[in-house]
Formats: sequence, C-alpha cells, structure tokens
Amino acid sequence: MTATIIDGKSIAATIEDEVTAQVAAIVDAGRRAPSLHVVLCGDDPASAAYVRSKGKACARVGITSQTHALPATTTTAELLELLGRLNQDDTVDAVLVQLPLPGQIDQDAVLLAVAVAKDVDGLNPTNYGMLAQGRDVVASCTPRGCMELLARHHVPVSGARAVVLGRSVLVGRPLAVLLTNANATVTVAHSKTRDLAALCREADILISAMGRPGLIGADFVKPGACVIDVGTTRVDDRLRGDVDFDAVLPIAGWLTPVPRGVGPMTIVMLLRNTLMLARAAGVVTTAAVPTS
Ligand code: GUN
Repeated sequence: MTATIIDGKSIAATIEDEVTAQVAAIVDAGRRAPSLHVVLCGDDPASAAYVRSKGKACARVGITSQTHALPATTTTAELLELLGRLNQDDTVDAVLVQLPLPGQIDQDAVLLAVAVAKDVDGLNPTNYGMLAQGRDVVASCTPRGCMELLARHHVPVSGARAVVLGRSVLVGRPLAVLLTNANATVTVAHSKTRDLAALCREADILISAMGRPGLIGADFVKPGACVIDVGTTRVDDRLRGDVDFDAVLPIAGWLTPVPRGVGPMTIVMLLRNTLMLARAAGVVTTAAVPTS
C-alpha cells in the first residue's frame, strides 16, 4: 500500500476561496468586513513570521487585520490593558494573542482576558470548557485544521481509535476533545508515555504534535492508518515533521507531508474562525452569507 498524500496546501486554498466568497457577500451587503486583531509580544522571529503570514492571508480574503506589536519587556498589566480596549471596541471581531508569550507574562491571565465572543483561538477557559462539554464553539486553529483534513479526505472518525501525541494547550488537548466530540476513541500520549510505538500501532488515526523530528517510524504505524503530522521543527534551515515520511508512506492509508500539510490549514482556519465570530457578533445577518 502507498498512502494517499493529504495536500494541506490545496485544501487550504479551497477553503480560502470559500472564505473569500463569504467575506465578499458581507461587504456586498453593505456591512463592514470582519476584523482580526493580533497581539505580538516580543521579538521572536518565528512568531513575527507567523503573524506576518496571518496578516497577508487576511488581506487576500478581505478580512481587515491589525497587528499590535509590543516590546519583549511588556508587563501582564500592560497586555491586559490592551486586551481590555480591544474587548470594548465594536470594530474588533476577533482577537489573537500570539503564543508563546515572554516568560514574565502570566499566560493564564492573558487567555482569560480575551473576551469569549472575540476569542479566535478558543483558548479562553470558557470556550475551552464549552468545547469539552461537546458544544460547537470556536476551537484552536491547528486542531480545527486537522479535523478538516480528515473530513475532506472522508477518513472515518466515528468509532475510530485515535492517538494524539502531545498534550499542549494549543494543539494536543483541544484536538483530543474535537476527536472525542466526533465519536473517536481517543488516547493522548506524551513524553512520559510508556511503549509509545506499541500504543501508536493501535491507532486508526495517529496525530503527532510532539516537535520531535522523525520520531514516528514504520514501527509506529498500523497498516492503512491515517497519519497527520503537526510537528514542525527547523533543522538545518528546513522544516521537519515528527513523521519519517519515506518510512511511513508505504504503510499508512493517508499521510500529511511537512511542509504543505497541516501548516497551511492553521492559517485558513484562523480566517474561518474570524468569519464565524464576526457573524456571531451580528456584523452580518445570516441571510447575507451562504453557509458552507
Ligand atoms: N503560536 C503558534 N501557533 C499559534 C496559534 O495557532 N495561536 C496562537 N495564539 N499562537 C500560536
């Protein structure tokens, strides 16, 4: 068997076209375009690059975006003050605080301070909790992107055995909840899990977000399984995933590459989440926007 390669770049392009059409419908109906405000704190080059690509993607689909760049020395109080202003501003539909934050900032306080109705990452504990209750709320963009890849390739999720590697707030945990809500039987594995390879071999759906290049070899994969690689680690100026692509390709049923796999989906899910929040805020009447 050779796995079907899941082309995240082309799926993301299709979704981007859908979002573009929906934003155009809002504007054609005489309403203002949805708006996303991104808070970037510090000068981590990778975060700055991510934020630039988010801004470019917004521009492509007609979403208004603004980046608030704050120095690395910003205090929690200063960041909370900015969030307070964005929460109060009716022209702001969606707010994203780029993670990781500098060490002196209280991340929990910051995530709690993003208004539930503007929380484009679904990281406010209220949204996180509602997701865990099985409610259909905005969820973190990378997990949403993984679910979309499964859906667009008709990978059976209901009843499937899923193993998620990694338990981060941003990816592993919300992804496990989304899979559970879609009726998968989910195990979350992590750096302390014993006999990882044997556990992974039980998975119909194996999703790795460990950030350990090449960790997932042929001995981790059940024949025919769907393997989604969220890991992106820069090695010698190249992006490397957690999956040993060449070793797994002949065994898996579906496989995402790195790059062109999950990465492009994260950004397009951000666009879709922004649109969803703008709609919920009443920027548009639902009648003005075709539902997808
Ligand atoms: N840092 C890397 N990816 C993300 C993301 O999806 N959201 C936020 N807020 N920070 C990130």
